[in-house]
Amino acid sequence: MPSPPKNTDNNKIISLHGCPIHFTDEKHFGRQISAFIGETEKNFILTDVNTAKLCLPLVRSQFPGFDESRVITMEAGEGEKNMSSLHHIWNFLLQHRAGRDSCLVNLGGGMITDLGGFAASTYKRGIRFVHIPTSLMGMADAAIGGKTGINIGGIKNQAGTFALPQAVIVMPGFLKTLLWHELLSGFAEIFKAALALDHSFWNKIKELSLSETKRAAIISLLENSIIRRSIEIKAEVVASDFRDQGKRQCLNFGHSIGHALELLEQGTAKEIPHGYAVAAGMLCEAFISNLRCGLPAKQLSDIEKCISINFPKTHFEEKDIEGIISLIRHDKKNVNDKVRMSLLKAAGTCVPGVECPEALIRKGLSSYLKKA
Ligand SMILES: NC(=O)c1ccc[n+]([C@@H]2O[C@H](COP(=O)([O-])OP(=O)(O)OC[C@H]3O[C@@H](n4cnc5c(N)ncnc54)[C@H](O)[C@@H]3O)[C@@H](O)[C@H]2O)c1
Repeated sequence: MPSPPKNTDNNKIISLHGCPIHFTDEKHFGRQISAFIGETEKNFILTDVNTAKLCLPLVRSQFPGFDESRVITMEAGEGEKNMSSLHHIWNFLLQHRAGRDSCLVNLGGGMITDLGGFAASTYKRGIRFVHIPTSLMGMADAAIGGKTGINIGGIKNQAGTFALPQAVIVMPGFLKTLLWHELLSGFAEIFKAALALDHSFWNKIKELSLSETKRAAIISLLENSIIRRSIEIKAEVVASDFRDQGKRQCLNFGHSIGHALELLEQGTAKEIPHGYAVAAGMLCEAFISNLRCGLPAKQLSDIEKCISINFPKTHFEEKDIEGIISLIRHDKKNVNDKVRMSLLKAAGTCVPGVECPEALIRKGLSSYLKKA
């Protein structure tokens, strides 16, 4: 196994249970990759059609190790995070004689890091993998923390592993080509991390007005501080509860309802990005938090303002509510068929595992529909 690069600048590395999360720029990027995976013929890279076109050329220009025969390219989108993609990757690795000494580099957004992490952590009982997240969602959240997975039968993340990559290489320069709505989608998880776990970070970012006309300034804020703080928040909570038995569940704020909304339209023309669904989920769950956990009204109104200014409204109708609730019943956090949610006691303080009667969920969803 190659030795990891020397830590020449401590500020640029966050460590999570021995998994280094490196921040880098275009100039140093290739060096980071070769330091972690080594130049052998046994390495493979997983991309989707977009990251193959927009991100792979930079990887190849700095690290010539990946010729065509070692690139696995999937279609793009959440619909690909499934069993048949997993089979495809395993078969590819088998046919190309990948061994226990191989490394799979996952170059893409959260779909690719979740799928590739699962494939690598199960192939031959686990080979090394490195995440190079290319979307904001991937950098700030999905590539951090060692959860991998696929959706089954349309239900999110029903099979997966807890497995840390050998390293995560964060190169914010990749955000340049990300479509605006995908950048916005990533912001939802950043707001969530702040709301669930860091009151002062929430106070810093809650007034942000995210408009495409300010794209360059927003990317520079992300590069200079916001991505790093989001990663720190996640790494800290994951380090204390890697297997998601307690405090880590705070990161699910907004997701019980968000995941159900995401699935409602998946595969249709109205499919929405993960983050938009989480934003809508946070609005509903903040409303429920006010009733169930005493989230102060002023803080609820700040959350409503921030989310409604920055995210488009997620479309569903009153008649969809029962379908949404039946999707929520599949949530992994539920116990004894009772729905449990991570709710807010205050901005920055989340309580995991709160039992939530279905009548309250109906109220939360109806209140979302009534808002302009
Ligand atoms: N494992 C975790 O802890 C965790 C946490 C949060 C989210 N997730 C998962 O992450 C997924 C969502 O992640 P996502 O929003 O990144 O989705 P995604 O991977 O589908 O990427 C969104 C789109 O952006 C494109 N893209 C990615 N990087 C690009 C770039 N640099 N330039 C241009 N286009 C680019 C992709 O091709 C895709 O079309 C969901 O499956 C979600 O469940 C996992």
